[in-house]
Amino acid sequence: MGFGLWTLNLSEALVVINCSQLVTLGGAARPRTGALMRELAIIEDGAMIVRDGRIERVGPRSEIESLIEADAEVVDAGGRVCMPGFVDAHTHPVFAGTRADEYEQRAAGATYQEIAARGGGIRSTVRRTCAATLDELVDAGRRYSRWFLQTGTTTIEAKSGYGLSIENELKLLRAVRQLNNETLLRYVPTFLGAHDIPDEYRERRADYVALIIEEMLPRVAQEGLAEYCDAFCEEKVFTVEETRRILTAAREHGLRLRLHADQLSLSGGAELAAELNASTADHLEHTDAAGIAALKKAGVQPVLLPASVYALGHTRYPAAREMIDAGLAVVLATDFNPGSSPTPAIPMILSIACTHLKMSPAEALTAATINAAYSLGRGRETGSLETGKRADFVVHDCADYREVAYFFGLEHARAVYTGGRLAYLREA
Ligand code: NIG
Ligand code: FE
Repeated sequence: MGFGLWTLNLSEALVVINCSQLVTLGGAARPRTGALMRELAIIEDGAMIVRDGRIERVGPRSEIESLIEADAEVVDAGGRVCMPGFVDAHTHPVFAGTRADEYEQRAAGATYQEIAARGGGIRSTVRRTCAATLDELVDAGRRYSRWFLQTGTTTIEAKSGYGLSIENELKLLRAVRQLNNETLLRYVPTFLGAHDIPDEYRERRADYVALIIEEMLPRVAQEGLAEYCDAFCEEKVFTVEETRRILTAAREHGLRLRLHADQLSLSGGAELAAELNASTADHLEHTDAAGIAALKKAGVQPVLLPASVYALGHTRYPAAREMIDAGLAVVLATDFNPGSSPTPAIPMILSIACTHLKMSPAEALTAATINAAYSLGRGRETGSLETGKRADFVVHDCADYREVAYFFGLEHARAVYTGGRLAYLREA
């Protein structure tokens, strides 16, 4: 592998050459299922022309070289892999502080649920986040946006959920909007007011559900601050019935639905996602065959978050193979958050997915790019390298795409582009 020629300016045309593999993920314009999850449409010794931030053409070097204009900016991948930017379809990227203290307590034997029951967990991040200003949250968020970009992610879904009051939930969604406007990472906003019951509502939870439905949702919808609504459906958090009421109201306000389902116990969340025609059901560590069948029937995409299983020291991973065999368009995401999954790195997710979920590297890559993009309503915009799509692509420091999952615990991304603009470049 030689040294590439990397330039920082946005010129009208940009040409990427010398890719050992141009992993396009080109194919039918729909989420990939079954054997199609293993079809990456790789072009060996591939090249790509980008114009005005969009992909104009991909093909073998021999085809593309003759089309290169003299003034085009050239990105020489140096015999490395080039693939679409990762799409991370489940993150909680706006919060104050960390939970390194709870991490230490868990290392000493406390469980996530025990810590939550004594007022820690999500509610400890809520207390810190409510005390932070919008600027402080945006500041912290900028740091995380760099982390996503430098690990090869170009689009993330971003949930609120550490405010749990009208003003604080709006503050989080405004922080997401500001980060989307000022960074090169693309954000898709989700309202998660139903992330936990706030301290002051513990004895009157019905009032909090009413607050979400009657006051928060109308404001969020009116200000156009979210595309999706999510809820944490779980024993001791929101019941199936409460979740149904919240998400039904959200749908009436024009929001599409996602939900945290069957993470810590089998709660009926997968069936509820199917009943509500949600876009996704997320986590699913405890989902059974009936839940999988319900998701399939309703066309709901499962979003698997195996880093939260890993980081909580649990051993029960979601049944990815059964889901793929059932024909579900599986998605993989980080669940980046300060509690259960403090990692923004999709390459780590690919590693866990191959090692513990027994997905193939190709299936895992499909799940973290094109399938993830479809789960966010962005399937025609990003997630593959095809003519007309936004030029969101990454050159990784390896010659074979499987190495991104195989060599784990390090950063592979060498150059990251969003909309044809250089968003991150690793110094040689
Ligand atoms: O997806 N399950 C609920 N929400 C997050 C955890 C958030 C936190 O612990 O702060 C999750 O795992
Ligand atoms: Fe989550």
